[in-house]
Amino acid sequence: MERTFLAIKPDGVQRGLVAEIIRRYETKGFTLVGMKFMKVSRELAEQHYDVHKERPFFTSLVDFITSGPVVAMVWEGDGVVASARKIIGATNPLTAEPGTIRGDFGINIGRNLIHGSDALETAHREIALWFKEEELVSWQPHLTPWLQ
Ligand code: TYD
Repeated sequence: MERTFLAIKPDGVQRGLVAEIIRRYETKGFTLVGMKFMKVSRELAEQHYDVHKERPFFTSLVDFITSGPVVAMVWEGDGVVASARKIIGATNPLTAEPGTIRGDFGINIGRNLIHGSDALETAHREIALWFKEEELVSWQPHLTPWLQ
């Protein structure tokens, strides 16, 4: 079953949006398989954003991600990688569509509330980077299919 990595960034935690953000994935019908509330080390932040290490915003991005606790999560479901990104919205909250998390709650590209893996391979890499295998819980929600 497809899995993706999501992290509520320090601004999402500080603004009290944790429950609101999780609610969107729960009510959509995806299954939570891992979650932890944690401070991010500089090493982890730099590895996570490795693709951006030559970009001008890299240092401020790492400073921000390590500035306060985050909620790191793994969610599972058909098409969850692309769908989770749709629910997040565009990188810049000012251009993100209303109805998306960034479109509804953000105005600043450097404070865009949530990270989501952008492709299946990225999801594999990020899940392995943030979670140990034993921290992930495989389970089946007891829903009849037509309720999902
Ligand atoms: P990116 O992977 O392009 O966006 P997304 O989070 O939508 O996958 O960029 C990673 C983060 O870097 C982004 O969430 C916010 C930050 N960022 C900036 O601060 N300035 C920028 O110009 C860009 C492109 C990103």
